[in-house]
Amino acid sequence: MPNTALRTFVHALPKAELHLHVEGTFESELMFAIAERNGLKLPYASVDALKAAYQFSNLQEFLDLYYAGASVLLKEEDFYDLTWAYLSRVAAENVQHVELMFDPQTHTERGVAFGTVVAGITAALQEAERQFGMSTHLILSFLRHLSEADAFATLKEAEGFRQNFVGVGLDSSEVGNPPSKFQRVFAEAKRQEYRLTAHAGEEGPASYIWEALDLLHAERIDHGNRCLDDDALVDRLVAEQIPLTLCPLSNVALKVVPSLDGYPIQEMLDRGLLVTIHSDDPAYFGGYLTDNYVALAEATGIAEAGLTQLAKNSLAASWK
Ligand code: HPA
Ligand code: ZN
Repeated sequence: MPNTALRTFVHALPKAELHLHVEGTFESELMFAIAERNGLKLPYASVDALKAAYQFSNLQEFLDLYYAGASVLLKEEDFYDLTWAYLSRVAAENVQHVELMFDPQTHTERGVAFGTVVAGITAALQEAERQFGMSTHLILSFLRHLSEADAFATLKEAEGFRQNFVGVGLDSSEVGNPPSKFQRVFAEAKRQEYRLTAHAGEEGPASYIWEALDLLHAERIDHGNRCLDDDALVDRLVAEQIPLTLCPLSNVALKVVPSLDGYPIQEMLDRGLLVTIHSDDPAYFGGYLTDNYVALAEATGIAEAGLTQLAKNSLAASWK
């Protein structure tokens, strides 16, 4: 299909975004505007200079820039504007349901109140539900490079806002921070009836996916690419229909895969994995949800039926 027909086709598919870090939707133009109104200076001369720095050889190089960018977010209106910019953009792409992740510790560590972050994000979610008729959920994600005690303190802070969250997740620097480090935190979150997801098998090995399933009782796996290294793990994921929220443009940007050519999407579908397509950190990785589908289809030649299946999977894998 030519690019415009492909884009029109993907656009029309009802889709859910399930793997999206709101801090990763921070477009550099908005980042400069918010920095300025907060009297802060970014260490880049211009929007173009900042964008030119978006060249990553691994997850950590990206995370360093992502946390630096998020550091200009101080006030409730900043979190509102960030979230609103994202939601209004994807509402125009026929994204019908969004499960948005945020990293409270990125902000509370800098002295921003937990309630300020949650109030700004939640107000934008509610406005998008009203204006666009989309449904939304908020997922609180723990930073795995920080300690178990930090995660417990965050879960405690969340108690006063429990109704704002559908679930908890686990993100940041994967290798060296296995799911097992957060086994007790996730047990407590489960006791409080949070839904559970965790990043695993992006840079980390297949064994981290086993840990996410067996120790954290994760119901979804964010990324999970490395499951293909382990046939027994694939069998388990298929048998239990555990969703894998894949992010193709992220995988290329962070060198998880060399390119989208040969991305094993058809193999994953054929093996019966419940795979879904998402955008992770679209402001940094060069594309929002539709862009991820289109880039994947252009590179792999996956047929319309496959794209339709992926979009259906995203709605089936949601916590609606
Ligand atoms: N992996 C881990 N942590 C993250 C990511 C990611 O792709 N994006 C934002 N935080
Ligand atoms: Zn992610």
